[in-house]
Amino acid sequence: MTDLKQKAASMVTQSELRDFLTLADLGTAQLHSLLDEAADLKRKQKQGIAHEYARGKSLAMIFEKSSTRTRISFELGMTQLGGHAIFLNSKDLQLGRGESLSDTARVLSEYADTIMIRTFAHATVEELAAYASIPVINGLTDLHHPAQTLADLLTIKEKKGKLKGIKLGWVGDGSSNVAHSLLEGAALTGMNMTLAAPEGYEPDQAVFSRAQALADESGGKLSLTRSPEEAAAGADVLVTDVWTSMGQEAEKAERMDAFRPYQVNRELCRLADRDYIFLHCLPAHRGEEVTGEIIDGPHSVVFEEAGNRLHAQKALLKMLLCD
Ligand code: CP
Ligand code: NVA
Repeated sequence: MTDLKQKAASMVTQSELRDFLTLADLGTAQLHSLLDEAADLKRKQKQGIAHEYARGKSLAMIFEKSSTRTRISFELGMTQLGGHAIFLNSKDLQLGRGESLSDTARVLSEYADTIMIRTFAHATVEELAAYASIPVINGLTDLHHPAQTLADLLTIKEKKGKLKGIKLGWVGDGSSNVAHSLLEGAALTGMNMTLAAPEGYEPDQAVFSRAQALADESGGKLSLTRSPEEAAAGADVLVTDVWTSMGQEAEKAERMDAFRPYQVNRELCRLADRDYIFLHCLPAHRGEEVTGEIIDGPHSVVFEEAGNRLHAQKALLKMLLCD
């Protein structure tokens, strides 16, 4: 039996979440119950109510790229759930000296209860998941950042009271990992998302088609445009991401030129709903994708959004490890 088959054979039910590689790995019902759980875990944490559902469980976290929020929120989240997380810089692992990913996956499966990885190619997280006999979590690849979307949806729900029918405008890099996962999140929850991106920086076609199919089922609507004004018009939520993601540093100059008309600034935000909220996954570059007066202004909820990484991921860990 191959490792992949062994993993499939260990599934208890078809609907049980085995890995979290893209947001669409969660069905609509699972996503909504995860968000409810996240809200409940947040309440418990704020009220000092014990919630050690992962007592004795462990999380191995492999990082091939830098991180502030993802590392800290997963590590502290696991501690608050009564479990233990270890940070593994890929350069310090034998992986960094050429040990295969498949062997690393099998070894970690002997020690830990789940693995989180932040890496470059999305195929790497898929390969890790294929060889691991324990759940694998995508902590960001070049293609997807699903853990970020969980926090974004939690934040929108808290601030707007609902997700279905919310008008979300994305302005900037439509091909970013954060944009891709948010498209899937909007699609699963029936939001109306308009994404404005310059030529050459549209979403990956396969990701967009998959999200479109999910939106058709949920009654959501996804649209692509070149016009930042169209994406911002009447938006309940405005979102952007950095113009140069990790690993794209060599393209920085051409990206700055392409994205300059796509800055989220006061003029653009005037077109949004008067009660709009501004989201950004962080880290941000003030003066590039967003001006300081917007990200530090009254409509910005970026620090609550960052805080919600903790609660959303605790709900994810609980679902993967305990449910
Ligand atoms: N938003 C996010 O993933 O932040 P880090 O890169 O700091 O983990
Ligand atoms: N798109 C950004 C997100 C960082 C959290 C990057 O990949 O660098």
